[in-house]
Amino acid sequence: MAGSCSSATMAKFNVGSVLVTGSNRGIGLGLVKRFLELPNPPEWIFATTRELDGSQSKEVMELALKHPNLVVLQLDVTDPNSIKAAMQRVEEHVKGHGLNLLINNAGILWVTTMENENIETMETVYLTNTVGPLLVSQEFLPLLKKAAQQSTQTGLSCSKAAIVNMSSVAGSIKVVPVWEFEQIPSYRCSKAALNMITRCQSLEYKDYGILCTSIHPGWVKTRMGTEMALQTVKQTTQEILKLLSTFSEKENGSFVGWDGQIYPW
Ligand SMILES: NC(=O)c1ccc[n+]([C@@H]2O[C@H](COP(=O)([O-])OP(=O)(O)OC[C@H]3O[C@@H](n4cnc5c(N)ncnc54)[C@H](OP(=O)(O)O)[C@@H]3O)[C@@H](O)[C@H]2O)c1
Repeated sequence: MAGSCSSATMAKFNVGSVLVTGSNRGIGLGLVKRFLELPNPPEWIFATTRELDGSQSKEVMELALKHPNLVVLQLDVTDPNSIKAAMQRVEEHVKGHGLNLLINNAGILWVTTMENENIETMETVYLTNTVGPLLVSQEFLPLLKKAAQQSTQTGLSCSKAAIVNMSSVAGSIKVVPVWEFEQIPSYRCSKAALNMITRCQSLEYKDYGILCTSIHPGWVKTRMGTEMALQTVKQTTQEILKLLSTFSEKENGSFVGWDGQIYPW
């Protein structure tokens, strides 16, 4: 279980470089903060935001002024040109070392029902939550491969090379939680499909030494999770980092909760 991870494991958690999409607020920003707080913080932390200017990115931009290892980049997961430009900026920074950890965190939830779901809602949510992580992973694959090739570690781990897709238990076909509270078919379908992307990635990228997994972060107090949620961003992101520090072959192609629980597809 993630909660039982020792501080010794965290002290050994040594990720050379990490990129988190959608990290101007919410869980993404929390993850960036937790990486900065590690005993061995990454040499490079790439926080990405849709808009570099404007109030949405103020906090992460201010954080970058205090931490030279934090680089804020523009990245819209639905825009291939923007993803490519971000990859090129990462390449310039890591200078031949590759990227160790890609966290596909960006996501949207439109409050829809079986009655009002339509082409636009289904397409937009799918494009952001499912196609986006696929495109970002494809673009960063050469850098992830490079990191895996250069690592002296055996087996799979987040310190070596990994893709972590931020999923949701809402996408579990077996559980289909809180249906009476919120239907959100487009969101559920997009996360179920994202889990399939994780499974496909895990089969295709294992031999390159890249670990691929889906995470459910819990119900978290963010703009998406609302104030009614059970967990704070700080609690959740602390637990997620502990979890990442323990991941090995066992978690490749699996669907793991913030508390270490394995979820059914
Ligand atoms: N909060 C929860 O309870 C919960 C539960 C299960 C799963 N999750 C998942 O956890 C992840 C983070 O959620 P959150 O609660 O932190 O949500 P949030 O507070 O709404 O933040 C979402 C982030 O994604 C970004 N984003 C949206 N569309 C994007 C695009 N096209 N390109 C790049 N970035 C984009 C947003 O950027 P802007 O500021 O530009 O909009 C924002 O940074 C999501 O994948 C979500 O599905 C959350």
